[in-house]
Amino acid sequence: MIIAVDGPAASGKGTLATGLAKHYGLPCLDTGLLYRAVGLAVADAVEGPQFEAAAIRAAEALDANALGDLEALTSAETGVLASKVAVIGEVRAALFDFQRNFALQPGGAVLDGRDIGTKICPDADVKLFIQADSKARMERRARQLEARGVEVDRYALFHQIEELDARDMLNPHGGFYKAEDAHLLDTTLLDIEAALRAAIAIVDRTMALKAEG
Ligand code: C5P
Repeated sequence: MIIAVDGPAASGKGTLATGLAKHYGLPCLDTGLLYRAVGLAVADAVEGPQFEAAAIRAAEALDANALGDLEALTSAETGVLASKVAVIGEVRAALFDFQRNFALQPGGAVLDGRDIGTKICPDADVKLFIQADSKARMERRARQLEARGVEVDRYALFHQIEELDARDMLNPHGGFYKAEDAHLLDTTLLDIEAALRAAIAIVDRTMALKAEG
């Protein structure tokens, strides 16, 4: 079974993907980490054609099985870099095969990202699109960072999330929208347990309907 979990920054999609993978005993890939690794690799490059060329080289050379420093990869700054390399078509193309092969492994997988249901796995068995309003997403991200001891400026964080949303929505090579056959799950008012219960219910219902043909 392939489960595609898409949604904007800090919508809860990563936590839900991990929870679904555990529940169904499937491997899980956070595809944002691939873009983050490319972003981190070009952190020192000057923006412009050189940045693009360096990002394409980094994506082509990426060993996606060996993603290193999780703390650096998951920082807010790396998220911004990731969204900048993610608008480069050649970067997306270079990362496509790894994601596709991960999805097609025997038994299936859970993948979370922005374009899983639209581009990477348009054939996924179940597609979820996770949504939450910007303020709720900012608050979640703030708490994650604070739990790691990072001091948070909520006003700046809110604007950073809106900036990420805007860049992602305008991505000419992205498919950053809800696939027609994706199930919408709004987590604004749900805690993690309730959101996971709702996601599992959607997966079970969809698979039962499929089995009935
Ligand atoms: O999900 P995460 O916040 O880690 O993603 C960081 C950035 O990577 C996103 O803002 C988006 O620009 C890019 N991304 C993407 N396609 C994916 C996953 C992430 O373009 N499948």
